[in-house]
Amino acid sequence: MDRNSNRNIEKGTAGKKRGGFTGRLGFVLAAAGSAVGLGNLWRFPYLAAKYGGGIFLLVYIVLALTFGSVLMTAEIALGRRTGQSAISAFSSIRPKWSFLGILCAVVPIIILPYYSVIGGWVCEYFFTFAAGNGAAAAADGFFESFIASPWKPLLFFALFVSVTFLVVLFGVEKGVEKSSRILMPALVILTIGVTVYSLTLPGTWEGVKYYLLPDFSRFSAKTVLAALGQLFYSMSLAMGIMITFGSYMKKDSSISSSVRQIELFDTGIALLAGLMIIPAAFAFSGGSPETLGQGPGLMFVALPKVFQSFGSVTGGILGGLFFALVIFAALTSAISLMETVVSILMDKFGLSRRRAAVIVYIGTLLLGIPSSLGFGALSGIRLFGMTILDFFDFLSNSVLMPVVAILTCVFLGYVAGCDTVLEEVEWTGRRRKENFFRVMIRYVCPVCIALILVSSVLSALGVLSL
Ligand code: PHE
Repeated sequence: MDRNSNRNIEKGTAGKKRGGFTGRLGFVLAAAGSAVGLGNLWRFPYLAAKYGGGIFLLVYIVLALTFGSVLMTAEIALGRRTGQSAISAFSSIRPKWSFLGILCAVVPIIILPYYSVIGGWVCEYFFTFAAGNGAAAAADGFFESFIASPWKPLLFFALFVSVTFLVVLFGVEKGVEKSSRILMPALVILTIGVTVYSLTLPGTWEGVKYYLLPDFSRFSAKTVLAALGQLFYSMSLAMGIMITFGSYMKKDSSISSSVRQIELFDTGIALLAGLMIIPAAFAFSGGSPETLGQGPGLMFVALPKVFQSFGSVTGGILGGLFFALVIFAALTSAISLMETVVSILMDKFGLSRRRAAVIVYIGTLLLGIPSSLGFGALSGIRLFGMTILDFFDFLSNSVLMPVVAILTCVFLGYVAGCDTVLEEVEWTGRRRKENFFRVMIRYVCPVCIALILVSSVLSALGVLSL
C-alpha cells in the first residue's frame, strides 16, 4: 500500500467510502468523545474509592503516562499506517494474525450491553430530577430499590440503546460530534463547579485526604489490575477503537500531540470526577469503608445528596442538568462502541448499514437484559461471586482487554516490528523516545500485563487470594 496516499477519503474493505477527519482538532474531539464517558464519571470514582484512594490514583497516573500513552500511540499509528479498522489492520500486515482483529471485535460486543444498562440508570436519575423529585433520588435506598425493580431499569436501558441505535442508523454521528464541542466543555465546567461546592460541605476533608494521599499499606496486586483495566476502558484501548480512529486520521496531523491531548482530557476528567464524588461520599456516610466499597452505586448514591444540599429548586435544576450532560457523554461513547460493531459487520459480511445496525441493536437489547435483571429478578445468579453486570465488566476489562493488549505488543514488537508504527509517529531523530517505546512494547508492557492478568484470573477463580 502506498503509505503516502491521501487517506482523507478512502475505500474500506467492503468498498464503502471512509470519511476522514478534517483536522487534528476533529480527530482529538472524536477520540475524546469516545474516551470520555461513564468510565470517567461512574467507573473511575468507585474503583478509586474501593481500591485505597490515593494509592489507586498514583498507580493509575503512572500507568497512564507509561502504558497508556505507549499503547494509544501504537494503536493510532497502526490504524493510520494500514488505513484499516481493527478487524483487518493486523491481517493486512500478517494474514495469520486476523484472529487478533476478531478478538478486538469481541470486546465492544461485550461492553456495549452493560454500558447501556448503566446509561439507563443515568437516564432514570435525569428524569427523576427533571420531574422535580430530587429529594427522592437523594433518599437512602433509592438506588438499591431502583436497580432491583423489574421494569424501570429495563425500560431506561432500552431507551438508551434505542437512541444510540438511531444515531448510528442515520449516520448522524457528525452532528453529535458537533454538539459535543459545546456540551463536553459544559460538563467539565459544571463538574468543576459541583466539585468546588461539594468540597465546602462539612466532613469532606477526610475524603479529600483519602483520595489524594497515597497510603502504601493499601497497595496490592489488585490495585494495579483494577487501575490497568480502568485505563484500557477509560481510554477506549485494547479493543481496536483507536486503530479505527487512526485509520481516519490525516497524514499531516501529529499523533504524539493528539495522544497527549486525549490522555490529558480523559485523565483530567476522571480525576475531577473522583474529587467530586469521593469526598462527598465520605461526608454523607461518615467515611465508612462499606459505603466507599459499595461499588457501582457510588456516583448514584453520593451525587443526589450533594445536589439536594443546594436546596430543592437549585439542586433540582443542577442535578437535572448534570445528569443530562452525563447522558450525553455516555451516548458519545456508546455510539463509538456500536459504530465499531456495525462497521465490522458491514466490512466482514458485506451487510448494509441498516441491516448491520438492526442486528447490533437487537443483539445489544438481548444481551443487556440479564445484566439489568442481575440486580433484581436474577440477583440469585452469581458468576465467580459477581453479579452478571460485574462479571461482563470483569470479562472485558480484566481478561479480554489485557489479552488483546499483550497480543498487540507481541505483534508489534516481534512480528511486524516496532518500526511499523515508529515510522508513522513523528519523533524521527528522537532516539530516547523511540528506545523507550521499543522497550515498553517488547518487554515491559507484555510481561507486566501478563503477570497482572494471570494473578487476577487466578484470584477470581479463587485459586489465589490477593
Ligand atoms: N472509554 C469510554 C468511557 O470512559 C467507554 C468506552 C469503552 C467507549 C470502550 C468506547 C469503547 O466511558
